[in-house]
Amino acid sequence: MEKRQELYAGKAKSVFRTDDPDKMVLVFRDDTSAFDGKKVEQLNRKGMVNNKFNAFIMQKLEEAGIPTHFEALLSDNEALVKRLDMMPVECVVRNVAAGSLCRRLGVEEGLELTPPTFELFLKNDELGDPMINESHVESFGWADVAHLAEAKTLTYQVNDVLKALFAEGGMILVDYKLEFGLFNGEVVLGDEFSPDGCRLWDAETKEKLDKDRFRQGLGGVIEAYEDVGRRIGIDFDA
Ligand code: C5P
Repeated sequence: MEKRQELYAGKAKSVFRTDDPDKMVLVFRDDTSAFDGKKVEQLNRKGMVNNKFNAFIMQKLEEAGIPTHFEALLSDNEALVKRLDMMPVECVVRNVAAGSLCRRLGVEEGLELTPPTFELFLKNDELGDPMINESHVESFGWADVAHLAEAKTLTYQVNDVLKALFAEGGMILVDYKLEFGLFNGEVVLGDEFSPDGCRLWDAETKEKLDKDRFRQGLGGVIEAYEDVGRRIGIDFDA
């Protein structure tokens, strides 16, 4: 496999073509951004930590029968993935109220949500990723209805697997965002799963161990990511 030209540079990852049209290389950079790119910083080791974190989680999900784009770790900050035709939506499941849900609905942070809520957001930087619903997706043709339904089912399946995994490490999976795409007609989990795209609290102290540390200027961002990783069995030195 040969890495070729850059296809796209996102806020924290870059995507490169390979000599195989069905495969791409994700490069996890140290860049960290929040508030639609208004706050940006370089955090030492972040690319490596998120790359290894994501690889570990994607493999756990594959073992549980959830199809993902992950193929292999290539280096400390590179992963080989399948090239998906991405759906332009973000799927969010919330087990506990936090973040934009609290701002939108005026509910208190920490409120348990039973059953967990499912929300959709349109991937559109200019519009600030507005919240949408399944009817919008259908009317505007952003995705096939059956594919969206499959993405929703998979998003909830991920919740079952990861809630249990983090609980074993003494943590609460508060919420998370997933992105899906199509590979040979199948709905497959793409993008990444890392503490950048989810909320994780210590089960006892409720300490925040995710990107809210960066958003809220709490410090110790990467130390918290590494702590979460070690608590679920990731060896960042491997
Ligand atoms: O901001 P909000 O509360 O809606 O975020 C819900 C979850 O989705 C959080 O875990 C957040 O980190 C994640 N998210 C993300 N990328 C976005 C928006 C939200 O990873 N663009």
